[in-house]
Amino acid sequence: MTPKLQAKNLRLAISGREILNIENFMLKNGEVIALIGPNGCGKSSLLKALALIDPPAAGVIYFNGHPVYPGGDMPGARRRMALVFQEALLFDTSVYRNIMIALRIRGVTGKTASERARKWLDRFGILHLARRSARKLSGGEAQRANLARAFALEPEVLFLDEPFSALDYPTRKTLLNEMGKLLKDMNMTTLFVTHDYTEIPYLASNVNVMFEGKIKKSGTVQTIFGEEIFEKRMLTPWEA
Ligand SMILES: Nc1ncnc2c1ncn2[C@@H]1O[C@H](COP(=O)(O)OP(=O)(O)OP(=O)(O)O)[C@@H](O)[C@H]1O
Ligand SMILES: [Mg+2]
Repeated sequence: MTPKLQAKNLRLAISGREILNIENFMLKNGEVIALIGPNGCGKSSLLKALALIDPPAAGVIYFNGHPVYPGGDMPGARRRMALVFQEALLFDTSVYRNIMIALRIRGVTGKTASERARKWLDRFGILHLARRSARKLSGGEAQRANLARAFALEPEVLFLDEPFSALDYPTRKTLLNEMGKLLKDMNMTTLFVTHDYTEIPYLASNVNVMFEGKIKKSGTVQTIFGEEIFEKRMLTPWEA
């Protein structure tokens, strides 16, 4: 089956230092890959290259089997992807308008847009916050709004760069459980960067391990971590 997203021979160097050197990266339709590795190994750089935000110096990126970089429909492919970072990066307006603006940028307006916005606010349990200023949300609420906005775009590929890192333990766990179900229900193709390995089993079935700009290992969650990882799922104090 044609991979949803593939990259071959990606190279990126900044000031003569190699940041990325990826021979072959593949994300299959509906697959959720966790991308891990030490600080500075290139995880965010790879994510931004694949999301066509920071295209690499060399290499080819394929979307649905078609080369989109270099020389393809890069804006078209980018519109079918969504990104969520650690910081919620919301516009300074209401939660509802945050989603409406993002949809308008992608050409979705009117009733379709408002229905979609409400649907995803509801799915993330924050419909009651629709009129609230995004600046007046708690960290957890802001990240819910951010995720609702990403899903409202109905992307074909979702990129998550440590989206739960700033949240407290119980909030993180609740959101991870919800996200795990959602990614499965939607069959969402996802690349999930995290530095907290206990988050992995909630979302991902496969893992890529990066080191110094290269993917050193890839495999299922079990082959990379062993079965113990499933016992190390986050426990809140009242469960421990
Ligand atoms: N615009 C830039 N200019 C110079 N160096 C950069 C730039 N962007 C990234 N780098 C360097 O590239 C390397 C990889 O950075 P990247 O942010 O991809 O790492 P990361 O794996 O996401 O790290 P972290 O776990 O800390 O988020 C780092 O050494 C970083 O300093
Ligand atoms: Mg990073």
